[in-house]
Amino acid sequence: MPREIITIAAGQCGNQQSSNFWERLCLEHGIATDGTIDPEKECYDRKDVFFYQSDDARYIPRSIMLDLESKVIQRTVASEFGALYNPENMFIPESGGAGAANNWGEGYTQGEKYIDQVLDMLDRETENSDSLEAFMLFHSLAGGTGSGFGSLVMENIREHFPKKILQTVSVLPSSGESGSEVVVQPYNSVLTLKRLIQQADSVLLFDNKALKRIKANTLAGTRRSLNTEIDIRETNIFVSQALLAATAPIRFPGYVYNNWSSILTEMIPVPDYHMLVPTYTPFIVPDAEKSLRFVRKTTVSEVLHRLVQAKHSMLAVTANQLQDSSFISVLRFIRGDVDINDFKKQIFGAQRDGLRFSNSFTESSQIILAKQSPFVETKSKLSGVGLWNSTVIGDCMKDVLNEFNLLFNKAAFINSYKRLPMFADNDLAEFNESRELLQYVIDSYNDLKLK
Ligand code: GTP
Repeated sequence: MPREIITIAAGQCGNQQSSNFWERLCLEHGIATDGTIDPEKECYDRKDVFFYQSDDARYIPRSIMLDLESKVIQRTVASEFGALYNPENMFIPESGGAGAANNWGEGYTQGEKYIDQVLDMLDRETENSDSLEAFMLFHSLAGGTGSGFGSLVMENIREHFPKKILQTVSVLPSSGESGSEVVVQPYNSVLTLKRLIQQADSVLLFDNKALKRIKANTLAGTRRSLNTEIDIRETNIFVSQALLAATAPIRFPGYVYNNWSSILTEMIPVPDYHMLVPTYTPFIVPDAEKSLRFVRKTTVSEVLHRLVQAKHSMLAVTANQLQDSSFISVLRFIRGDVDINDFKKQIFGAQRDGLRFSNSFTESSQIILAKQSPFVETKSKLSGVGLWNSTVIGDCMKDVLNEFNLLFNKAAFINSYKRLPMFADNDLAEFNESRELLQYVIDSYNDLKLK
């Protein structure tokens, strides 16, 4: 029996990322823009993980969209795949809304007015499922809606659906670069990280610094000119590629990992360390793929090796940071055209691949052959996704916390938060608790490092 997953998108980044993911899910399952499938092209897959069927047998995404302004959801509705989504699962304030002004507190406070409507959507979607396994929240940490409203949604899922897995797809802003995307992004990120630490069962952590770097590297190999002003939306394809590959075993079933919790059990030996870093190779921009100057030769051993290198990580990690870190667990899925016996031979010895594991846990390094969608063709024979549970996450959090402290210690830009009732009378306990918790988590990761 499939174990179903409901996606929830909050804010601009969350909705743009999630609609990109859904379009690609449709392509992988041979679902047309009107939700129908060509009976000639039926294959053995589990569409039911992410879709259910309407009375007229069309496939409908188990997807909920939330925003405090209308622009992004309206664009999704007007897109090629727009008619696919259930309009009852889209929330925008009646007035159209003006967003959350890049303020976590604004997103959280406005969200409180609407949370009952969101819970109704979650209940209805849950009833459409036979055996719901997980909620998957897409959001960014830097703005106000995905972070603040997203935080409130996480707290409510934990309270109302305590037995379901809460998985997030969380996008951190570019840190450490001049000209932050949002000046108060460290505040919003740290306040949201507190919920990701306390409420989520698993967090897939991406950041825009890594995504922009991947985009630049990918286009450098093509004839398409590289815009200096990379629209961040164009990087959503990379996150989708990693998510499609990571969920491939549960959508195109094989011998192992038939549900999402079996993957998490492998990756997360104790709940305290539930943040995961995705890696992927080779990244592809479909329209630019046609103009690739050369197509790289992909072999199993090369793909496996790339999946444990810093430059293929989707969270900005330096090679030095990776070298000083220790893994708790690593999982690599290979997809593509490969002979199973050859695969077995090639993975022999690749499990360790020179990786350093923390000695606080039993070493866990798995390599699995996952099935490819029969409907999607690319020039690469093979692709792979990696998931790392690693102490390097503590290093990335340290960067976020340092940026937070730089602002908070000077009380910079804090007034826009203090005018909200939740932080009135100079009550900044939430800020202090969040930073203390983050510091505690950073220290815990540090303790796991091999000295
Ligand atoms: P408000 O605008 O305050 O209502 O909140 P929001 O949650 O809608 O904001 P948004 O999601 O735009 O958050 C801003 C952060 O998200 C910045 O770091 C942006 O660079 C990033 N961002 C926005 N759209 C995308 C996207 O499509 N993909 C990626 N990767 N990042 C995005």
